[in-house]
Amino acid sequence: MLEFMIERMTRKKLANIEFSRIEPELPKDKDEIGLYIHIPFCKTPCPFCAYIRYPFNPKLERPYIEAVKKEIDLYRKVLGNVKINSIYVGGGTPTIMPEGVADILKHVRSAFDVSSDIGVESNPDDLNEKTLALLLDAGVSKLSTGVQSFSDKILKSIGRRSHDAKQALDAIELVMNNGGFDTFSIDLMFSLPTQSLADLKGDLDIVIEKGVPQVATYPLLLFPYCEMYHDVKENKIELPNKKVEKKMYDVIVNSFIDAGYEPCSVWSFTKNGIDKYGSVERDEYIGVGAGAMSSVGEYFYANTASVEEYIQALGNGSLPITTGARSSLEGIAARWLSMSLYETGFDKREFKNRFGMDVDEKFKSFLRWLKLFGVIKVEGDHVQVTRKGMYPIHLMTKTFLLTFIAKACVACMENPKPLNLRSS
Ligand SMILES: C[S@@+](CC[C@H](N)C(=O)[O-])C[C@H]1O[C@@H](n2cnc3c(N)ncnc32)[C@H](O)[C@@H]1O
Ligand code: SF4
Repeated sequence: MLEFMIERMTRKKLANIEFSRIEPELPKDKDEIGLYIHIPFCKTPCPFCAYIRYPFNPKLERPYIEAVKKEIDLYRKVLGNVKINSIYVGGGTPTIMPEGVADILKHVRSAFDVSSDIGVESNPDDLNEKTLALLLDAGVSKLSTGVQSFSDKILKSIGRRSHDAKQALDAIELVMNNGGFDTFSIDLMFSLPTQSLADLKGDLDIVIEKGVPQVATYPLLLFPYCEMYHDVKENKIELPNKKVEKKMYDVIVNSFIDAGYEPCSVWSFTKNGIDKYGSVERDEYIGVGAGAMSSVGEYFYANTASVEEYIQALGNGSLPITTGARSSLEGIAARWLSMSLYETGFDKREFKNRFGMDVDEKFKSFLRWLKLFGVIKVEGDHVQVTRKGMYPIHLMTKTFLLTFIAKACVACMENPKPLNLRSS
C-alpha cells in the first residue's frame, strides 16, 4: 500500500515536466559549483545500460578530448573565478582512455580553483598498474568499478561481454592492494534476468568476504531506449517480479548492515566511515561531454547526445546544450528533498539555508505522511530515513530515474542539434 502510494505520487509529481528546446540560464555569479565530465564510449556496450554511450572509435578520442577542453573553457568564461566543489568523471567508460581523462583533469585544474576530491568510474577489465598510476597521478582519489555480478551465468544473461567474474575479482584485489585511493567502490546490480536470491546472496558474500570498502547495488532500470527493454517487452527475457525484487532489496540491506556496513544512500553501503563515492548530486553542477546533464538554478539541461554534433558545436565555439526543463523553486526544492532522502537523511537547517524557507512549512503534509508511515524519524533538526523507510525511498528514486532522467536522456538523443548558445 505504502509502496504503491509513493510510486504513484512520484510519477504524478513528475508527469508534467517536459524537456524542450528552451534556452537555459547559464551558471553566472556562483561561488562554487560541481563538475561532471562524461566519456560516452565503451569497448562493448551492454544491452541493459541506461547511460549515453557508444562503441569506442579510437579516431574520435582526440577530437572528443579537445572538445571537452573547449567546453570547459567556455564555462570558465561564464563562471569566472568559481570554486569547483565536486568532480566526477563518468560514462560510458572513462578508463577506456585514461591518458585522455588525465589530460582533461589537468585542463580543469588550469581553468578553475579545484577544492574537491576527484571520482572516476571504471570497467574492471581496464584496471591495471599503469592505469591506476595514471589516475592517481592525475589527482583521482575516488574510484568505482562496475562488477554487476560475480556470477558468469548472470554476466552472460545481461549481455556483459567486457569481463568475466575472475577479471572483476583480480581488479578488486589490484585496487585494494594498491591502497592509493581514499575511496574504492564497486557496482553490483540486482533484479536481473535468471538471478535468484541465492545468486544475489553469493555476490554479497564475496563483497563482504573481500572487505570491499563501498558497494552500490542498483536495481535494473529499463529505460525505453535500452536494448534489453525491448527484449523484456517482447517476453524474450524474464525478470524477477516485484515481490522477489523487494526480497532481494531486503537481503542486500540486511547482509550489509549485519556485516558492519552503513547505508550512505538507499543503494550504497560503506565501511569504516570512508568518504563516500557518489556521482548523484543534489546541489548545482555543470555537466560537460556529449549527453552530459547540468542542474543550474531553475534549469535542468542536457548536452546533445551525438558525439559528432558535440565536437562540431565546440569547434564553432558554441555550447552543445540542446534541451532542458525549467522548474519552479518548489520543484527544485522537491528534487533536493528527494535526493536527500535517497542519501538517507538531511538537516532541516541545510534546507533553510539553501531555499530560504522551512522544510516543515513547504512540505508539511508530505513529511507528516512519511513520519506516520515510519519512513523517516525526526530528531531535532535531523531527518533520518528509517530501516523500514529504505524500500519506499528506493521505489521513489527508481520512479524518479525512470521518469525524469529517462525523459532528459530521450530528449537529448531525439534533439541532436545544439541550440548554438554562446558563452557571452
Ligand atoms: C555508467 S556505468 C559506468 C561504469 C562502467 N562503464 C561499468 O559498466 O563498469 C555505472 C553503473 O551503472 C549501473 N547501470 C548501468 N545501466 C544500468 C541500468 N539499466 N540499471 C541499473 N544500473 C545500471 C551499472 O552498475 C554500472 O556499473
Ligand atoms: S554498463 Fe558500463 S560498460 Fe556497459 S554500456 Fe553502460 S557504461 Fe558501458
